[in-house]
Amino acid sequence: MKKNIFKKSLLGIMLPAFFLAQISCAQKSVKTLKTAYKKDFVMGVAIGTEHILEKDAKANEIIKSEFNGITAENIMKAEVIHPQWDKYNFDLSDKFIELGQKNKMYITGHTLVWHSQLPPFIRRNNNKDSVQTFMRNHIATVAGRYAGKIDSWDVVNEALEEDGTLRKSVYLKTLGEGYIQEAFELAAKADPKAALYYNDYNIEQPAKRKGAIEIVKKLKAAGVKIDGVGIQGHWSINTLNLQEIEDAIVDFSKLGVKVAFTELDLTVLPNPWDMKGADVNQSYKNSPQMNPYTAGMPDSVGVVLAQKYEDLFKLFLKHKDSISRITFWGVNDGHSWLNGFPIRGRVNYPLLFDRNYEKKKAYFSVLNLKK
Ligand code: G3I
Repeated sequence: MKKNIFKKSLLGIMLPAFFLAQISCAQKSVKTLKTAYKKDFVMGVAIGTEHILEKDAKANEIIKSEFNGITAENIMKAEVIHPQWDKYNFDLSDKFIELGQKNKMYITGHTLVWHSQLPPFIRRNNNKDSVQTFMRNHIATVAGRYAGKIDSWDVVNEALEEDGTLRKSVYLKTLGEGYIQEAFELAAKADPKAALYYNDYNIEQPAKRKGAIEIVKKLKAAGVKIDGVGIQGHWSINTLNLQEIEDAIVDFSKLGVKVAFTELDLTVLPNPWDMKGADVNQSYKNSPQMNPYTAGMPDSVGVVLAQKYEDLFKLFLKHKDSISRITFWGVNDGHSWLNGFPIRGRVNYPLLFDRNYEKKKAYFSVLNLKK
């Protein structure tokens, strides 16, 4: 009798345990972007206020299951986080960090020094002491607050013109070119553990790439910490240039820094500057010609998008040892900045998830490379 009871209770424990193990195996085997690319690089996503506040259940689910890295799309920019001389807004950035920590994600701070989205009191300031004080306080306070919690910082963002010379920003005009070195030194001091990146768009293109190489070389020669270069990756399905991207990966990694693709998206819409011969000012206006897919993305375009993403990720995998992270600039198509730029009010489809958070063909073309 005793034996039977023992047998039954043993079965009672083992059977549910067996089924639970099966379920958890099944769950584990569901491949997502982050699990598929786990051994290659961080798969990141840029998130906004609604995601940080976890207001949208579908978005939350995707962010957590598909990605293992987050970047703050807007809320760590100076005009938001440091709106007045002595006033900082840390509410959202604290929550952003908590979200990343809770989900064990790679956290990227974006961005410490950028000519754009500056608070009004510094935007057109031409006083050297003011700009320097602002930059010093800003980096020490913001990077210092999150020291040890942020994995990487975009320390300086978009400091270059298209021809590879330094952008005539408020920082360059008041502080001279030394501001870049000082920014990296300040960041290293405020958060010695964070990986420090120079981040820019179009730096895969030869002239601008040369400028970025100069920046890295100068910092290295001066013994200043720089860990990586962020190639933003705002590209178009019509003009994607894989050769330039590959050359850039090789060139940057030769300098002894990692390469990250920090703001990846592929516009499927015509860009005004692609329309040779057209009046650029005219084409910046919204029109049916410039906004052709208001009723949905045609399958033929979805196929091209999927192919371009596949080509890109093949290249990323080829160079995975040089690449630290790939971050998509937005969770789904509806969330993308490309619906408003360079023409307001368009309907774009640049990401892997559609407006209903459904996986697009492009999602599978990226995922299935890791079969
Ligand atoms: O938060 C305000 C809101 O209060 C206001 O009602 C609304 C009215 O327009 O504007 C909101 O701010 C907008 C903000 O995004 C948040 O949605 C700004 O106008 C808008 O300019 C801002 O655009 C961002 C842009 O950077 C400028 O900061 C985009 O979302 C963001 O995707 C984009 O990201 C940049 C990277 O930081 C650097 N690299 C290029 C990339 C694309 O431009």
